[in-house]
Amino acid sequence: MSEQGDIDSITRSHLPVLRDEVLRLLAPRDGGVYVDVTLGRGGHAEAILEASAPGGRLIGIDRDETAIAEARARLARFGERVSFVHAPFSSLREELVSAGAPHVDGLVADLGVSSPQLDDAARGFSFKSEGPLDMRMDASRGETARELIASLDERELADVLFQYGEERKSRPIARSIKRAELDGRLETTLDLSRAIWRVTGPRRAGIDPATRSFQALRIVVNAELAELEALLASLPDVLADDGVAAIISFHSLEDRAVKHTLRDEPRLEVLGKKPIEASDDEARTNPRSRSAKLRGARRRPRANDAEVSS
Ligand SMILES: C[S@@+](CC[C@H](N)C(=O)[O-])C[C@H]1O[C@@H](n2cnc3c(N)ncnc32)[C@H](O)[C@@H]1O
Repeated sequence: MSEQGDIDSITRSHLPVLRDEVLRLLAPRDGGVYVDVTLGRGGHAEAILEASAPGGRLIGIDRDETAIAEARARLARFGERVSFVHAPFSSLREELVSAGAPHVDGLVADLGVSSPQLDDAARGFSFKSEGPLDMRMDASRGETARELIASLDERELADVLFQYGEERKSRPIARSIKRAELDGRLETTLDLSRAIWRVTGPRRAGIDPATRSFQALRIVVNAELAELEALLASLPDVLADDGVAAIISFHSLEDRAVKHTLRDEPRLEVLGKKPIEASDDEARTNPRSRSAKLRGARRRPRANDAEVSS
């Protein structure tokens, strides 16, 4: 396929979740400065760059180098209005200072893994296709899922599955995984799926029973909750006065952290009483949007900081 063909298929195949709702919250304007801390294939970034033409600027951050390369190709037409940073969003503050934009008018975070990460069996995120037991978003550093499992005893593994996957059968599943490891049958994603299915049985209706355990391991491999806490803590510093953050989460652990931090931070004003969810239309056409919850918050002017802290 030609390079243009690749770009076309990227554009066609990726639907950014709650795109219009994010734009409504951020209200991008010409001359504004924006950051997308989960760039992925650049769907939200593209929408923000279009809406802030001709002079809006966007910094795109992702910890996955493959995502940065794909977004770079997709967003090439915006020239110098867009810049790219390969980093985790826990280092947002420093990255924005390095980019010469310590305060931004809008921030979007679309949490979790992307469809290309899930679809590429070699990344090890999918319980449906054979791949190495990896699950790292940043494939250049850190511990793989295989190494994580090896470092945990059965009880610790069960705790991970329960705490981060809300898996009620965490103990027998952990036992089955550890047994597979001992027997030398735990090298690939499907080995892991089979160890889970031996306890739960195969999928009958609804979500596959392996989903929860894969989610739990992925969250720990990528320190997703610690990353999210760091991002949320940095919001009052990185948002300009009246700047807006729009955060999309996909499971209750994430949404709880977002909801509580935004609510308890006096320098932020929560926008809307309830999280924004996908319309029936979007949920039909984009299955990923079904569990999405979008929450927004606005930075109160810094002149009032002394007031809110007293
Ligand atoms: C759901 S995708 C984003 C899709 C994007 N909004 C789009 O429209 O194409 C999430 C992306 O965020 C990245 N990501 C997740 N956690 C991250 C973190 N802590 N720091 C930086 N990037 C992260 C993932 O690597 C992935 O590419």
